[in-house]
Amino acid sequence: MQRAAETAQEVPVRPSVDADGGPKRISVLGATGSIGASTLDLIARNERAFEVVAVTAHTSVDVLAERARLCRAERAVIGDPALYDQLKEALSGSGIEAAAGDEALVEAAQMPVHCTVAAIVGAAGLKPTVAAVRSGQRMALANKECLVSAGDVFMQEVARAGCELVPVDSEHSAAFQILEQADAEGIEDITLTASGGPFRDWPLERIQRATREQALKHPNWSMGAKITVDSATMMNKGLELIEALHLFPVETHQLRMLVHPQSIVHCLISFVDGSVLAQLAEPDMRTPIAVALSWPRRMAAPTKKLDLAEVSQLTFEAADEVRFPAIRLAREAMERGGMAPAILNAANEIAVEAFLAGRITVPGIAALVSETLHHAEGRGLVREASCVDSVLECDAHARLIAQELLVGGGVGA
Ligand SMILES: NC(=O)c1ccc[n+]([C@@H]2O[C@H](COP(=O)([O-])OP(=O)(O)OC[C@H]3O[C@@H](n4cnc5c(N)ncnc54)[C@H](OP(=O)(O)O)[C@@H]3O)[C@@H](O)[C@H]2O)c1
Repeated sequence: MQRAAETAQEVPVRPSVDADGGPKRISVLGATGSIGASTLDLIARNERAFEVVAVTAHTSVDVLAERARLCRAERAVIGDPALYDQLKEALSGSGIEAAAGDEALVEAAQMPVHCTVAAIVGAAGLKPTVAAVRSGQRMALANKECLVSAGDVFMQEVARAGCELVPVDSEHSAAFQILEQADAEGIEDITLTASGGPFRDWPLERIQRATREQALKHPNWSMGAKITVDSATMMNKGLELIEALHLFPVETHQLRMLVHPQSIVHCLISFVDGSVLAQLAEPDMRTPIAVALSWPRRMAAPTKKLDLAEVSQLTFEAADEVRFPAIRLAREAMERGGMAPAILNAANEIAVEAFLAGRITVPGIAALVSETLHHAEGRGLVREASCVDSVLECDAHARLIAQELLVGGGVGA
């Protein structure tokens, strides 16, 4: 057995070279976000092992240009076409190609690479992520909304292209690592853990009055705003259950969740013989990103070394679906199947935006999602998805319903 080094920094960097011995070519979709930053940090620390091909963003043009220069990307793409001139100007003299617009995002996602890190937030990432999947290279998937919205269709694309899908979400990375070394046939159930978020022990009346700042204050993880709010409502765990359904060979009744406030144990898999395998790590996304970039090898990540004596206690508790109804909504959408998860996701994205804009309360998020699902069912939207475009159509329709409900008032206020 290999002896673990004292600190992560002492682990010799084993360059994750490709089969020809050259550096791995990586594109980062959503390079200006939290996952994007962690990915580029890992790459910067392993400069000889990686080469950055494309980096993308939506509107953060200065951050994009700065990160593109730092990692010496070949191309930088901004989603908003109005920002093209600004990007070009910010990149002048760097030799980095600038591009803008939705088509340019898709084209960047199709550039030949060894691995694409899909870290755009929300269903907006679906088209470029599918474009990258179709190019058949490794997909390090952080954008869970792709799998939630397009589930079966997305996985058919993955199978058709022979794409190697490695999840980045910490719980799914944990399950992936366990299942790479265990007999998936013998799975009894998979339990994803949840920190419980900032409102874990708050009574409902207090959650009702929670502010934007309180919702954005996650106890363990530093992440983008949308996923941080999703963690506060626990919708994040609901989305992750749906994500797990598509990634692993289990049925809905085999997926469980458990609140674990320390965020050290990320996933537990029970097998039919009574064994339970778990994966542990400090809550730092650079660990699952490193796994996705270098699997089946291990590359050094500058994370704090896990010291269980210091952590001292690992506690677990059941989730409270009364205070956190988003979990039930997500589970129901998962069981309902078809495009119910796409509607759930679209409505949630609108609801989180409305909450961040001060238009609705925290409990209002689940209320708006629930009402949108109800109306969408009435309008016959909950049918099977035939292709990515049908998911995008359903997503757009669900957003309109959610917007109408918001404008009509009464939901979520
Ligand atoms: N952060 C985490 O620790 C974590 C953990 C597990 C899973 N994930 C998942 O990873 C994904 C990214 O999360 P994050 O926390 O890194 O989000 P984030 O910090 O908000 O970053 C989102 C990225 O997506 C880009 N983007 C946003 N809207 C876009 C659009 N319409 N078109 C193209 N690009 C767009 C943003 O560009 P701009 O900066 O220009 O807006 C930014 O680069 C999410 O699906 C999340 O659920 C995140």
